[in-house]
Amino acid sequence: MSEKPWGGRFASVTAAAVEAFTASIHFDARLARYDILGSRAHAAMLARQGLISEEECHLILEGLDAIALEIENNTFVFRPALEDIHMNIEKALVEKIGAAGEKLHTARSRNDQVALDIRLYLRAETIRIIDLLKDLRTAFVHLARRYDNTVMPGYTHLQRAQPVLLAHHLLAYYEMFGRDSGRMTDCLKRLNVMPLGAAALAGTGLPVDREFVARELNFPKITANSMDTVGDRDFAMEFCAAAAIIQIHLSRLSEELVLWSTEEFSFITLADGYCTGSSIMPQKKNPDIPELVRGKSGRVIGNLMSLLTLLKGLPLTYNRDLQEDKEPLFDTVDTVSQCLAITAEMLSHTIFNTDRLTAAAGAGGHMTATDLADFLVTRGVPFRKAHAVVGKTVAYCLEQNKALTELSLTELQRFAVEITEDVFPLLTVAGSVASRRSVGGTSPDRVHEALNLAEQELGIR
Ligand code: ARG
Repeated sequence: MSEKPWGGRFASVTAAAVEAFTASIHFDARLARYDILGSRAHAAMLARQGLISEEECHLILEGLDAIALEIENNTFVFRPALEDIHMNIEKALVEKIGAAGEKLHTARSRNDQVALDIRLYLRAETIRIIDLLKDLRTAFVHLARRYDNTVMPGYTHLQRAQPVLLAHHLLAYYEMFGRDSGRMTDCLKRLNVMPLGAAALAGTGLPVDREFVARELNFPKITANSMDTVGDRDFAMEFCAAAAIIQIHLSRLSEELVLWSTEEFSFITLADGYCTGSSIMPQKKNPDIPELVRGKSGRVIGNLMSLLTLLKGLPLTYNRDLQEDKEPLFDTVDTVSQCLAITAEMLSHTIFNTDRLTAAAGAGGHMTATDLADFLVTRGVPFRKAHAVVGKTVAYCLEQNKALTELSLTELQRFAVEITEDVFPLLTVAGSVASRRSVGGTSPDRVHEALNLAEQELGIR
């Protein structure tokens, strides 16, 4: 005898291997509370529309509460033979309350039910991730405030390029994770739409009230087309794409933290509590957190590829393939949340070695070469010509083993007669940084403006 809700049409029971192959309960059990939440709203709607009695609705709500409690207390037994979370809960309800439980699935299919569950789940997780992004951005702003006068080399091609403020570098990440937050907020808009009522694919002939369910579950809108509703996983792809970009930003940051904590750079000291050691080399202190965050990019990118590939060849509307959406989605939520949280925590315990940073900003002495070229521009020399002149000057420095800042005025004037005494303050690290006052530039006044704005944005000022 089949205990399957769809057993009626079948002459023999499902093969054990098929039950094992088709079951999703080992991962979609995670949707339990959302499934119950959705069923509660659905039951209330059915009663309101006279499709079930108030008494039946009451029994259903009580039954669902009892099941929620069992799940919370880990006493609920999930049965793989019942395939998924939807049938596990429905079957348990029927066992508890009898006939009334058999009315819950009125005007509903698992196809719109699962669409609702994932949207409810992902809505909650997206809001949580936006909060985690805010925590991480706050960590950057605190660091930028703490080190608001420290200079460091700015890099292009990982070669020292021009001196910048450390706070400017840190606030670059504030911007990056700010855009990530924007992408998640945008994703939330398309996610936050109520699918129930699409039923299997074509809608239902029973007099449902979809708007009521939407209000009950706090959705501002209902979906427009029932066929699209049960086949749509755009919101999952979109979420995973936005999450992948977050993870890439975390990975770029991690790469810098790994580099900066090397003896060669020594720009930062990661706190002992946020590093691990070697089982053989007693002296080692390894930056395993940023390494793992960087490494976990692989799975987050992979999850996005899985989803895109999953949807690529699917005809409308629901296909069982869609059950494969959950594991990549869940793994993305878990991985990105974990990485955001641990990175923010680690950063807030990170020490920046200001002496090393300052020394590196002035080292070599050629990083203010652009400033010399800009000076010549202010004296009427065309930039291309100025660039060539300064290039020759730097070549001379390399030959003489001198820094640009060590050249005398007469030496400098050999390359361009336009150079005068007042160039020297501009060639210092502080002078160079202070001069970069273009909007968005690294001068202390610009960076302080940006810092104030960030603090305002975060509400910490
Ligand atoms: N476990 C299924 C999924 O995740 C639920 C929907 C199943 N619908 C169906 N007609 N078999 O997609």
